[in-house]
Amino acid sequence: MLPNDLPESDRLDAQHYLVRFILKGNYNVHLDSESPDLRILDVATGTGVWALEMAREFPKAEIHGVDISAIFPTEGNPPNCNFQLCNILDGLPFPDNHFDFIYQRLLVYALSPAQRRQVNVELLRVLKPEGFLQLVESDGIVYNPGPQMEKINQLSLETSLRHGVDPRVVQTMKSGLKQSGYTNVNSVNIALPVGAWGGKVGSLSLQNMHGLATIWLRGEVGNMTRDECDALLVVADKECEVNQSYYKVWLVIGAKPKEPKNITASSSTTTTPNTSGKAQVLASTSSSSSDTPRVSSSRPVKRNGL
Ligand SMILES: C[S@@+](CC[C@H](N)C(=O)[O-])C[C@H]1O[C@@H](n2cnc3c(N)ncnc32)[C@H](O)[C@@H]1O
Repeated sequence: MLPNDLPESDRLDAQHYLVRFILKGNYNVHLDSESPDLRILDVATGTGVWALEMAREFPKAEIHGVDISAIFPTEGNPPNCNFQLCNILDGLPFPDNHFDFIYQRLLVYALSPAQRRQVNVELLRVLKPEGFLQLVESDGIVYNPGPQMEKINQLSLETSLRHGVDPRVVQTMKSGLKQSGYTNVNSVNIALPVGAWGGKVGSLSLQNMHGLATIWLRGEVGNMTRDECDALLVVADKECEVNQSYYKVWLVIGAKPKEPKNITASSSTTTTPNTSGKAQVLASTSSSSSDTPRVSSSRPVKRNGL
């Protein structure tokens, strides 16, 4: 549904820095940087920006990034960073119990609900017992929209549903992971301001909204000209400013049980306590399961409940 051209690569890189900022880093589990056999997987790596940063931060670790589209760099990568083409729906080219930490970010428009369940189970297979999976997603909805912004929300939903994808499914990733056999599942919901009301972060996220909105407005459902699109975005920007609009970002972390049960995409949950391993959840970001988003902004927050 999303293109894989240069503007989209630029948008993904900018989005990486935004998400890294609001989540206070590239990962929200403790990783043992001294371990001689730490293995990390970035699922649907995109431009590979996350994997490359991880490879530099963990020079002793083995970092792998996979994507269906070759927009990751093929030259000049750190020796501990490997990228390969792979459709995750065909299964991952790795043995069982292989990775200490798996990261999957912003596949909201790529997976149907059934495919998301399938991928959860495949990731559980390649995760080591007591290893962690971290999911980061937004449902792509701009909350507190004005009328024009709501029009963009509707177009985004309509386009997604036409492609068999329901972005709202990311709102239930926590229960999805539990049903897929993960244990110690924690979820945090963070608000990302859209507009200058949220300071520099809000201004950057407004640019990201423009990139996505242009895809919906000019795509097969919106079918607008460039001028019509630009005019609508001018109005939508003002609405976001007045309404203090925001995206919601979900961070969900789950562990593979020490003694996993045989799980399929349609079977359900097991809960085994988890206390050790090379990866551990950082309490500061994983203890909340609230559905009320926390705001992340470089400015003081004025609105109640954010
Ligand atoms: C919105 S981008 C996110 C990229 C990266 N995770 C990030 O956060 O910057 C979605 C990525 O998923 C990839 N993708 C979509 N479907 C896939 C599949 N079935 N298997 C592997 N990668 C897939 C796309 O090629 C694209 O690079």
